[in-house]
Amino acid sequence: MYKIIEKRQLTPVVHLMKVHAPWVVAHAQPGQFVIVIVDEKGERVPLTIADIDHSKQSVTIIFQVVGDSTRQLSTLQTGDSLYTLVGPLGQAIPLMHNGYRGRTLLVAGGVGIAPVYPIAKWLHEKGLPCDVVVGTRTEELLFFGEEMKAVCDNYYPMTDDGSNGNKGLVTDKIKELVQRGEHYDMCVAIGPMVMMKFVSLLTKELHIDTLVSLDSLMVDGTGMCGACRVNVGGKVRFTCVEGPFFDGHQVDFDEARRHQLRPDEKKYRIATHGGDHHCNLAAAVEKHLAAETPTDRIPRQRPKEQDPCKRAHNFNEVSLGFTREQALLESQRCLQCKTPQCMANCPVNINIPRFIKAVREDNVAEAMRVIRLDSSLASICGRVCPQENQCEGGCVLGNKFEPVAIGALERYVADHSPLPDFATIRQPQGKKVAVVGSGPSGLACANDLAKQGYRVTIFEALHHAGGVLVYGIPEFRLPKQRIVEPEIENLRHMGVEILTNVIIGKSITIDELMEQQGFEAVYIASGAGLPKFMDIPGEGLVGVVSANELLTRTNLMHGYDEAYATPIYLGRRVAVIGGGNVAMDAARTALRLGSEVAIVYRRSETEMPARAEEREHAKEEGVHFEMLTNPIEIVADENGNVASLTCQRMALGEPDERGRRSVTPIVGSEFSLPIDTVVMALGTNPNPLIKNTTPGLETNRHGGIVIDEVSRSTSRPGVFAGGDAVSGAATVILAMGAGRKAAAAIHDYLSKK
Ligand code: FES
Repeated sequence: MYKIIEKRQLTPVVHLMKVHAPWVVAHAQPGQFVIVIVDEKGERVPLTIADIDHSKQSVTIIFQVVGDSTRQLSTLQTGDSLYTLVGPLGQAIPLMHNGYRGRTLLVAGGVGIAPVYPIAKWLHEKGLPCDVVVGTRTEELLFFGEEMKAVCDNYYPMTDDGSNGNKGLVTDKIKELVQRGEHYDMCVAIGPMVMMKFVSLLTKELHIDTLVSLDSLMVDGTGMCGACRVNVGGKVRFTCVEGPFFDGHQVDFDEARRHQLRPDEKKYRIATHGGDHHCNLAAAVEKHLAAETPTDRIPRQRPKEQDPCKRAHNFNEVSLGFTREQALLESQRCLQCKTPQCMANCPVNINIPRFIKAVREDNVAEAMRVIRLDSSLASICGRVCPQENQCEGGCVLGNKFEPVAIGALERYVADHSPLPDFATIRQPQGKKVAVVGSGPSGLACANDLAKQGYRVTIFEALHHAGGVLVYGIPEFRLPKQRIVEPEIENLRHMGVEILTNVIIGKSITIDELMEQQGFEAVYIASGAGLPKFMDIPGEGLVGVVSANELLTRTNLMHGYDEAYATPIYLGRRVAVIGGGNVAMDAARTALRLGSEVAIVYRRSETEMPARAEEREHAKEEGVHFEMLTNPIEIVADENGNVASLTCQRMALGEPDERGRRSVTPIVGSEFSLPIDTVVMALGTNPNPLIKNTTPGLETNRHGGIVIDEVSRSTSRPGVFAGGDAVSGAATVILAMGAGRKAAAAIHDYLSKK
């Protein structure tokens, strides 16, 4: 799909590639970058766009061989294809948007020549004066000399050994130019971090405004993982969304450089690091004894689980699900209430007593038919929904005994049912609907719209469909191949087109979808992927990551598997900050990768939002819980890596109006936890990409898209939204329910059109 139409070697270590990429070409601007994946098992590599050829619909990327992925990339030849090329990402160079008319000094170091070239070309096309200084160690590392001369006023090569141009550093040339009276309104420096640092220090002295392009570590490139964050003027900024250009006089280059050096220093994989933590056998035994004690006529059935000592070292699914005998027994516990509270508590109102009755009659097909009337992702919801707070929380049996295991029964039904019968699908009505995002909300909406006969296209920013089901929830809770993939395949069978690697707001905008591509309605289900941090000292240290980054590297990129190229950076001792399901997922993932793991949470376990089952599983596997503990500072070792976490003990106060107990710090209770890695699992906000590129789309102060609760419409006619993009991070079932409501609203809207 991403065919290489030209490949050549520019220097012994630098290669040029022209790749056919029409989605990228349509919107690419100087300074933006793309993410490239060489093959199915490759990592996501960010590369700056060096040139754009509209006639051939191709972009040029230039890269230096610095590691395994770029080495593999360098072996591809003209005619080969890349697995993925997605973009354009990041912001164009700010000069393009502020009416800039000044004289520019472009400074490039090493492979930085590549991203400098399109900027020089753009300035040239605008008739704006610019000089270019390039620096390399020797002449043989220089490239693009002739191309650069054609688009700048003066070209000054500098080499360390004097083999081409002047001998010396780029800073020597800048000093010389200024001393001889040259005036520049702006300097743009791109190259090695150390070069950008010293250029910025010099231009600060010389009072020349300076932009630098930061080439930080990235995973998704869309603002989802926080791996690319840098410190600019004391504030955390995400390079992939807000950058890559920042004010060189404000950047903390030393911190950015330490992050760049991260690869290979702390690389742990399950296959090479077995781990020496001890699973909590006592907790597991207690649980199984409790399960054998009848508390009512038929005790609540518990699905078999992988032994905690074994599963703490693998990524296989923990729960093995009900056997037929267990499902039949459990279904008999249902009282078949006339006014079922379980149903009222289900966000999508599945007729729970009816499907359980069908299970009791051993009629799985009928049970599935009943569930499907209201839910399109039963096998997923049966595994990951917080049933204890929803359907099972309303079960009257729970007042005296344990509630019916509704979630496990739902999973049993879904796992033992054949795929839906596609013969019932209506013929397409010809109206096109775009769904942005392929997470649970987008999948549910697409499913219902396809059943109504609409021509539905799902646009997914990553290279795999499934959204949070694929990048967020670990394999040991939700198997991808066996459970998620068939749901996506179902949609394809139903005629839904799924386009991966298309970033709405970057590759194409919502306005373009509607005005140029003929989509009559759009459903935004882009989720809430922007990770939150604590804003405490030390968050910029090497060894502080978001849960999204750890989970994306593990789940989406299979970093735990030696066959895949994406590394995972984890220390021996990991602290996961937070108390939600994502914190549990991150902790249990780190444990499986061989670390000793502690969950640090500022309230008590009773207040933890994570599901009880996840908490139990984490404890059984050996995760340590540090409750009523609040981190106040992350402390570095002499190399700038995380060395410890300073915490403070907390005391529980009175409940607030929502019933949540407040916490107050205990004076003098500070203590230090020796830690190598801190994983922030503090929740997420909606990604601003769509908001920033859709004029008139109203959002609230958290970045959530505002919708009318009845019509499900946003402030833009024909544009609907739902799921986490509206509510902030919530549950799979709520997202799915929102998708279904949106599908009904879209059908209503298009029927009247
Ligand atoms: Fe920027 Fe993930 S790469 S947030």
